[in-house]
Amino acid sequence: MALHPLISQLTDTEKAALCTGASFWDLNGVPRLGVEGISVADGPHGLRRQAGAADHLGIADSLPATCFPTASGLASSFDPELLARIGAALAVEARAAGVSVLLGPGVNMKRSPLCGRNFEYFSEDPYLAGELGAAMVNGLQDNGIGASVKHFAANNQEDHRLTVSAEVDERALREIYLPAFETIVRKAQPWTVMCSYNRLNGIYTSEHRWLLTEVLRHEWGFEGLVVSDWLAVNDRAAGITAGLDLEMPTSPDGPARVLAALESGELDRADLDRAASRVLALIDRAHAAAGPTIVDPDAHHELAREAARRSAVLLRNDGALPLAETGAPIVVVGPFATTPRYQGAGSSRVVPTRVDNALDALRAALPDRRIDHFPDYDLVAAAAAAEAAEVLVFAGLPESVEAEGFDRAVIDLPAEQTEFLELVRRRLGRLTVVVQAGSAVALPFADHADAILFAWLGGQAGGAAIADLLSGAHSPAGKLAETLPVDLRHTPAHTAFPGDGHTVDYRESIFIGYRWYETRGLPVAFPFGHGLTYTTFGYSDLEVSVEGDTATAQFTIANTGEVAADEIAQVYVADPESELTRPVHELKGFARIHLAPGEARRLSIELDRRAFAYWHPAKGSWHVEAGEFIVQVGASSADIRLAQTIRLDGDTLRRALTPDSPTGAWLADPDYGSPLRAILAQAAHGMVGMLLDNPDLHPGRYRILQNIPLNRLGRTGLGCDLAAIDEIIRRGVR
Ligand code: BGC
Repeated sequence: MALHPLISQLTDTEKAALCTGASFWDLNGVPRLGVEGISVADGPHGLRRQAGAADHLGIADSLPATCFPTASGLASSFDPELLARIGAALAVEARAAGVSVLLGPGVNMKRSPLCGRNFEYFSEDPYLAGELGAAMVNGLQDNGIGASVKHFAANNQEDHRLTVSAEVDERALREIYLPAFETIVRKAQPWTVMCSYNRLNGIYTSEHRWLLTEVLRHEWGFEGLVVSDWLAVNDRAAGITAGLDLEMPTSPDGPARVLAALESGELDRADLDRAASRVLALIDRAHAAAGPTIVDPDAHHELAREAARRSAVLLRNDGALPLAETGAPIVVVGPFATTPRYQGAGSSRVVPTRVDNALDALRAALPDRRIDHFPDYDLVAAAAAAEAAEVLVFAGLPESVEAEGFDRAVIDLPAEQTEFLELVRRRLGRLTVVVQAGSAVALPFADHADAILFAWLGGQAGGAAIADLLSGAHSPAGKLAETLPVDLRHTPAHTAFPGDGHTVDYRESIFIGYRWYETRGLPVAFPFGHGLTYTTFGYSDLEVSVEGDTATAQFTIANTGEVAADEIAQVYVADPESELTRPVHELKGFARIHLAPGEARRLSIELDRRAFAYWHPAKGSWHVEAGEFIVQVGASSADIRLAQTIRLDGDTLRRALTPDSPTGAWLADPDYGSPLRAILAQAAHGMVGMLLDNPDLHPGRYRILQNIPLNRLGRTGLGCDLAAIDEIIRRGVR
């Protein structure tokens, strides 16, 4: 890479200072040359600009800013265009506060529903997280504010996060844990990427050359700067050498350690020059984009409300929703109706510009209905509800359990809530529940509820958005970006989370989220991609055209009900036969469209080569297997409406042959298969030849023969020509 033109004028001390934060939120510049440092701030769903005291635990307050729904909610919108608009709004707020880089989005995968920070992450699906993350980053950066895509990589738990080694096989890394970052780098070229705290396969990510340089830069073409998570630096010299450019926050001995490593020869000057160059390039970029701007808090609040509306998921509805404009009183129970849960705790905590509550908004939306509120989950409320037409219980997790820095122990709602919900159901036979939580929770009452609206942590306008949906002013249309499990024991990492404190084995490999539940045939409470609306949709006329190893799926969606609403159509790819085990199917495309009653629209979704590929560890690259694939179009991962089988030519895989490769692999080789077949045809007085020509005569024997390592065939008593086999082996081993 070309070095920054100023590098040749800098002293080593100035370079070392550039590569270390000046304060908790500020970067050093080069005062001698008039280069001013810049400021960064959290976080993914709102600006946390601590203007006074700064700290790591979010103790000191920050300036008021719009609090948007957290990532788990936003992901359920399946709406990249919305994410881009939120990115743009965040950029305006950041710019007005003098901040140049916003520390987000967080695109780690939800390996376990227990991860304390799942509310800050998008999904269990890397395709969805990548598309949404790229849209958000483009929204930020098109408006002059850099993103910091985090936490790179395999930071999938909070317990032991600063030291634990995530032991992940390469296929799982390539197919699950890295692609969201890869998509964002390729589609949005973020200004910065933030490395995670943890170790990956034994090496701190902050000093992981393969991760930070070979994969991120050489393979994906990343051109920005890598910043450490706050306190993530372990060995500064090793970090710079591996590709970690900037240490944050400030570190009292950081620059001195850099200089000492330079002097001892542990650190190459070229590596320091490269890192300092990247910091200067970031500063240039930030200054070039900076400029005055005016925040419109009302418009941003409206955007937050729209975002919360588009994110909420109607899990179940037997007709209880929307609420009628007139009728008997409605009883609302639970503290969250007036004091909503709208964000999680930790570094992403925003001081909102204002907070709506659902009760006030519902009363305003339904002026002709009496709405009584009982904040406590108790019997008095249940008795009052006996007279009411509708019972709306606001349930959710207490703030103390959804936080950065530690994991949850269970996925249950507090017992007082579940007991109360059960009581209401038994006593009254009717129950509508609004859930406010940032991550998956168990819903043991689900089968008996009339309606359940999962409102996530909906940000500062979440309360008003809930009223918009309950009253029917808008139809819900979000869909789950993460599976809601029935039981914690069914979850993918259950026997290996959070590890022993030193390491955590990703034993389930590529099978997380719906990939796990569906491949194992496990029941779930609500599947990935599920969400209802106040209307119905028909899917028809799927046509998949193939060109090379890519395809285009075209299909029609019609609003067959009586209410205008959005539908989120999902395209999955299944590979019914593959050499290596694959999930039942995987999300490879989606679209959210708005349809008026009776309206129909034809959609077209492109499936690139990668949509069909898996990571082949032996080949060390992406591999499309020749043969059949099924392109499925569904309303959720468990509700496939249309499917078409296609054939792809795929890649030829020339397997590395070794003396002990199975006879079948040798027979399948384009060069050595035929001569070997000719040699084996003579064995066992011609019986082996017959077997090879007619496998169906003795399928069992045929398979045994295929599996025997070629160099052991001589000991099978079949009378093979050993010298000829040895000659084949000699020529064929590569
Ligand atoms: C978090 C980051 C955050 C940083 C700065 C860290 O503890 O992991 O996500 O951006 O602090 O607050």
